[in-house]
Amino acid sequence: MEQFPEKLLVKLSERKDNNALRSLPDSNPLVDFASNDYLGLAKNEDVFQHSLKMLKEYDFIRNGASGSRLLSGNHILYTELEKKLCDFYEVEAALVFNSGYDANIGFFSSVPQRSDIVFYDEFIHASIRDGIRLGNAKSYKFKHNDLGDLIKKCEDGYTTPSGQGLSQNAGEVYIVTESVFSMDGDSPDLKKLITFCNANNYHLVVDEAHAIGVYGKKGAGLLQETELQEQVFARIVTFGKALGCHGAAILGSEKLKSYLVNYARSFIYTTGLSPHSVATIIAAHHYLGSTEGTEVRKKLNENIEFLNQKLKNPNLKLKFIASNSAIHCCKIKGNDKVKRVSKSLQEKGFDVKPILSPTVPKGEERLRFCLHAFNSERQLKEVMNLLQSII
Ligand SMILES: Cc1ncc(COP(=O)(O)O)c(C=O)c1O
Repeated sequence: MEQFPEKLLVKLSERKDNNALRSLPDSNPLVDFASNDYLGLAKNEDVFQHSLKMLKEYDFIRNGASGSRLLSGNHILYTELEKKLCDFYEVEAALVFNSGYDANIGFFSSVPQRSDIVFYDEFIHASIRDGIRLGNAKSYKFKHNDLGDLIKKCEDGYTTPSGQGLSQNAGEVYIVTESVFSMDGDSPDLKKLITFCNANNYHLVVDEAHAIGVYGKKGAGLLQETELQEQVFARIVTFGKALGCHGAAILGSEKLKSYLVNYARSFIYTTGLSPHSVATIIAAHHYLGSTEGTEVRKKLNENIEFLNQKLKNPNLKLKFIASNSAIHCCKIKGNDKVKRVSKSLQEKGFDVKPILSPTVPKGEERLRFCLHAFNSERQLKEVMNLLQSII
């Protein structure tokens, strides 16, 4: 057999030394506090049957898209889905990508141009960082959810070649944030951010991956909850989390859609989603907008409220990052320690995952509790009592 490169072996052993080596877990029967299936739609029978019915109605006996959407892969269900997304998210145009990762890579590698500048929150998702890295614009991070730091960075002259601040900059400025942060569960002040961007003609881009299904009218996200959806340049919505399926869309103007169809390489050079994937996304949105969808969101929000009541306990409060979303994080310093606590909870039947460095910075390791509509109050109470006794 061919020899495995020595340099790669060194990198693997570095991970082992830091107790941070990743491996694929087996599926488990534990109480789910780990998945992004916040509403339980990944296993929802109504969504499953609705998508089957749709495929039969369209007489779609197809296993795959058969090509890129620009060639043979743009089947009729895509047209129906993108129309539905425009209504659901109250936006002019929607473009579906194969995943949130693909959407962010496609957007950030192609939209900001060479003389442009991107400011991003320091805790932004890896897919956005990777997209920025593939593009030609300059980029700078600002402190997490810190508008003051962003304003300061924009005012500081170091961002432009002339050193005279952004007002002298010839290019466009893009600001990017998440409406619910995947590693903290907290949110920026979107209203203030929009006021700042509008006043300076900056383009705001918001990744709503963890807000969809949790916040907003029919679960359409935090921007829609605050009726700010028309004031952003683009929104990224993903379907693999609360919607329980797969894929993502970039929401914005028709011009932006046309630009992405022409220049976003992660859209152009890949096979489209299969008809059953697209049918499932339509069915999941339909469910989210139904009475049953409203009920299940209500249950999730009751669980979030219940947990926040439990977290008033001073022993726990200090360790948790304040959050009103489905993501709640308990900071436990060090890979060894956080792994040990997670293992203890798993042994007692609760699937709570440790988030290790380097996924988060060293010293910021944490246990991430993802709450779901299907978790019972008893499970929440038990897992918090256990955690308290362990830490
Ligand atoms: C904020 C954010 N954006 C994008 C993604 C990527 O989405 P997907 O899982 O659909 O690739 C994730 C997934 O973890 C995320 O948390």
